[in-house]
Amino acid sequence: MSTARLEYNGNSWEFPVIEGSEKELGIDISDLRSKTGLITLDEGYGNTGSCRSAISYIDGDQGILRYRGIPIEQLAEQSNFMETAWLLIYGWLPNEEERKGFSELLTKHQMIHESMRSHFQGFPNNAPPMAILSAMINALGCFSPEVLGYEEGEFNFEESAARLLSQVRSIAAATYKMSIGQPMMYPREFKYCENFLHMMFSVPHGRYTPDPDVARALNQFMILHADHEQNCSTSTVRMVASSGANMFASCAAGVCSLWGPLHGGANMAVIQMLEEIRTSGICAKDYMEKVKQKDSKLRLMGFGHRVYRNFDPRSRILQKTADVILAKLNISDPLLDIARHLEEVALKDSYFIDRKLYPNVDFYSGIILRAMGIPLNMFTVMFAIGRMPGWIANYKEIHDATRLKISRPRQIYTGETKRDYVPREERG
Ligand code: CMC
Repeated sequence: MSTARLEYNGNSWEFPVIEGSEKELGIDISDLRSKTGLITLDEGYGNTGSCRSAISYIDGDQGILRYRGIPIEQLAEQSNFMETAWLLIYGWLPNEEERKGFSELLTKHQMIHESMRSHFQGFPNNAPPMAILSAMINALGCFSPEVLGYEEGEFNFEESAARLLSQVRSIAAATYKMSIGQPMMYPREFKYCENFLHMMFSVPHGRYTPDPDVARALNQFMILHADHEQNCSTSTVRMVASSGANMFASCAAGVCSLWGPLHGGANMAVIQMLEEIRTSGICAKDYMEKVKQKDSKLRLMGFGHRVYRNFDPRSRILQKTADVILAKLNISDPLLDIARHLEEVALKDSYFIDRKLYPNVDFYSGIILRAMGIPLNMFTVMFAIGRMPGWIANYKEIHDATRLKISRPRQIYTGETKRDYVPREERG
């Protein structure tokens, strides 16, 4: 085993270097503090491996993403969302018996408890769907016997995972229906993505038949969002789970983390940016100049990534899907033209080239969702439905660990040193 040496203050220590299955290397500093009295400081965790995980793999320089070893391009082309979910959660592609069993479990759990329907009515119509989603996923735990009766040995992972996966789409669709004043629709005999489209877009009078091309594009969207190693929301799920919190609470926290515009909220922010460019009439080059100004808080949304220093492989697939789905639905979206133009300008601009900023998963995904008729405020909810298998798989890794170790980082304290309390009458 190779080691790395740390020297400080005339002392020197050796630390083991750990090698992953794709040959990536990390210095194991688990006993750094006990040996040296030092800790590391890595704000934003850009250099910190927080865990060992066997779920997904990214090579950011090469633009590679694999789930359980399988390239994302192959899954997007050949798999469907629920098969990919199984792969992520259990580690292998399901055989026919496993596929059938999983499908039956998802069907068994697809309806939300009738008492939960009244919870939706308590939210104002304009409540942010991500707030409702996170609250309702947490509430789901209250309707889950395996969580309510939680005692050592009683927790049934398979039932809980299926309940959460199946009901997240029913909750999401119900959130939308409530916001527009329509009755919530019960799931029907459709497959996962078709059923979601049905619950979103059908009304009690009239039969709704999901368009197979739209369902295919939705499956692909979900597959591409299903996992992405230790991103902000997945790390949140793992951190919450590390305290022993249940799967529903852990994943509800993941939803909150995903909400922010630098993470999942970027898919909404991209469309808002493209709309702003369209209505203001500003040209792509001028917009880019504003983004590049030294003190500008403006970012080219849908560009850049902490890990990818090359094309995000998901954006390449989604760009093609956007073309296909718009052509199929006979839609001409001016925002797609603006997006293409922005990309063209950015890829030739030294600001973006030097910083290795390329389109990420969110750059084209919103255009596809718009074409499907998904309202803007539901975009990040769509990301959350897609990411659920990854969160569950990561929860499982924590849950299955032989020893539960709580995530508890340290800090470098920069506040006041010891000082005395000043009574109220003596303060200036
Ligand atoms: N537009 C303009 N400049 C950017 C952008 C951007 N989208 N992204 C990064 N930069 C610049 C940034 O200003 C900084 O410049 P300088 O070195 O001169 O200060 C440099 O690039 C490095 O940026 P950073 O913020 O230190 O990079 P990061 O790795 O911490 O941030 C990011 C990654 C995704 C938060 C960031 O690229 C960003 O804000 N992008 C826009 C939001 C977005 O699209 N988010 C979705 C990410 S993909 C989906 C997901 O996984 O959630």
